[in-house]
Amino acid sequence: MPHPEAVAVAPLTETAHAKINLALHVRARRNDGYHQLESLFAFAQDGDLLRAERADALSLTVEGPFASALAGEGDNLILRAARALRQAYGVTAGASMTLDKRLPVASGIGGGSADAAAALRLLIRLWGLDPPRPALHDLALGLGSDVPACLDSRTCMVGGRGEEVAAVALDGVADTPILLVNPGIAVSTGPVFAGWDRIDRGGLRVDKLAALTNARSDLESSAISIAPAIADVLAALRQRTGVILSRMSGSGATCFALFDRDTALYRAADAIRAAHPGWWCMETRLR
Ligand code: C5P
Repeated sequence: MPHPEAVAVAPLTETAHAKINLALHVRARRNDGYHQLESLFAFAQDGDLLRAERADALSLTVEGPFASALAGEGDNLILRAARALRQAYGVTAGASMTLDKRLPVASGIGGGSADAAAALRLLIRLWGLDPPRPALHDLALGLGSDVPACLDSRTCMVGGRGEEVAAVALDGVADTPILLVNPGIAVSTGPVFAGWDRIDRGGLRVDKLAALTNARSDLESSAISIAPAIADVLAALRQRTGVILSRMSGSGATCFALFDRDTALYRAADAIRAAHPGWWCMETRLR
């Protein structure tokens, strides 16, 4: 029987799956400043990677390709999530966390929200907590509108400002090849919502993936007026062969294309990387 301190405890890890709005209908501006949404969220198999080990204090180290984009951020959403969880459940233990930041920051694919949700999942395991589901949902919503949906990171219909999350089983989503492309421009969510033209173009009904071609990404034109390069990304994606669906995710600037086969995905990724070396591209699959 080894001495307890001699047993190496492997760090716990979680993937902060990239979030993709397969459709995003904005219905109204609310009195509280948020917008009423109807959105179909899907999640990529890949994303940022978060790991944590037990420690006396809370700490976060950021590494990876987009670490420098977070350097100026004094109050990272991961640390806010950790502090909120500690306070809610009277936790005295700390955690030494490391984020491998692989997704671009402020890019419409949920980076910060997915990181916060991954931190909640990870720390619940690390600290042996068992929070009731409604309380965890409310804590997540306090961190950001997309965080409740990112807790499970499974395909879901989202309503309200993000607090209504209903899992949906949609044939043809799981394992679909997807290419994410960002023109290298960080776009803040608030100004994109503020630029919405306030025209309600109707609700979102999706019973099968094919129905998505009639759905919309209502923040696209506002985001394009802030970052015109988004239109170039969409044009580059839409001219590829094998594209099932292509649009902007969330408030941008990341756009996506779903492909009908792997070879079409890889060809598109190669062509776009060659033509636009400054753009960020990630080929992955939906969960
Ligand atoms: O909730 P979160 O902090 O992620 O939202 C960032 C900003 O995006 C909000 O301050 C608001 O301006 C805008 N937003 C919105 N309607 C939503 C979600 C976000 O207007 N449903």
